[in-house]
Amino acid sequence: MKKIITIFACSLTFLVFQACDDGRLNEHESPISPEGRTVKLTARFTGISSWPDPSMYVVLAGFNDDSDYALVNKSVPAPTVEGDEITIILSGIKEQVTRVELCVINRLRKHIVSFYTIDETQLASSNDIEVDAGTLHVGMYNTIQERVFNTTCVNCHGSATSAAAGLYLTSEKSHSAIVGVASKKLEGMNIVEPGDAGKSALYEALSTDVSITDAWHYNHTAEVVDEGILSMIRQWITHGAKND
Ligand code: HEC
Repeated sequence: MKKIITIFACSLTFLVFQACDDGRLNEHESPISPEGRTVKLTARFTGISSWPDPSMYVVLAGFNDDSDYALVNKSVPAPTVEGDEITIILSGIKEQVTRVELCVINRLRKHIVSFYTIDETQLASSNDIEVDAGTLHVGMYNTIQERVFNTTCVNCHGSATSAAAGLYLTSEKSHSAIVGVASKKLEGMNIVEPGDAGKSALYEALSTDVSITDAWHYNHTAEVVDEGILSMIRQWITHGAKND
């Protein structure tokens, strides 16, 4: 009996090793091929062409958690008709890439804002990842409205019954309240002067401590601390301050 059990145990061990050998136990973690992984992303976009390529442009890009600079990237072309479906294929995504983002980068490939993220777990699931990101509104002004005005500025400029300095930065009102409108605070300046950030009270307020001049009671420099976001606002003004 003991002998039979021993033989049985040995054959079982043999079978287990065999299973290990043919690699089937690793089915869940697909090893990264030497050419890297590929992401195929499909989405419908509005507003891509509002970004001033090549200062800033919309890309599908791979990043590592330790850095803000894209390791690999592919430009997203503007669709011929707004809202048409576009498919972008990013290949050569090597092991060090821990997330892939549909985002905006600058000419140094530094990350500015993100619209859609494929995380590490999704990336580990296969060598060929296919995703549908839905409809993405990536317009430059829309991004400033959502990421800057709606998140911080409207607390004082619009969501309450009164707006600081009479300035409304809420979605429906912001563009016509700032572009080509005379500043109440900085004499002779517009709040936004299309084409010239240096002559725009909005950029001046966010980039310099204007509270040291007697005209201002509130220092705005802590409102936008992210350099990338500040440069996005500057680029938007420089390239015409359009409403898309
Ligand atoms: C905590 C309240 C507060 C927040 C938040 C705030 N502001 Fe203001 N803002 C003010 C006050 C108060 C004034 C009036 C200026 C003064 O007297 O100091 C002002 C004035 C301004 C002006 C000058 C308007 C003119 O006529 O020249 C601009 C432009 C402006 N803010 C933009 C912004 C932007 C953009 C943000 C978000 C990034 C923002 N503010 C966030 C309180 C705020």
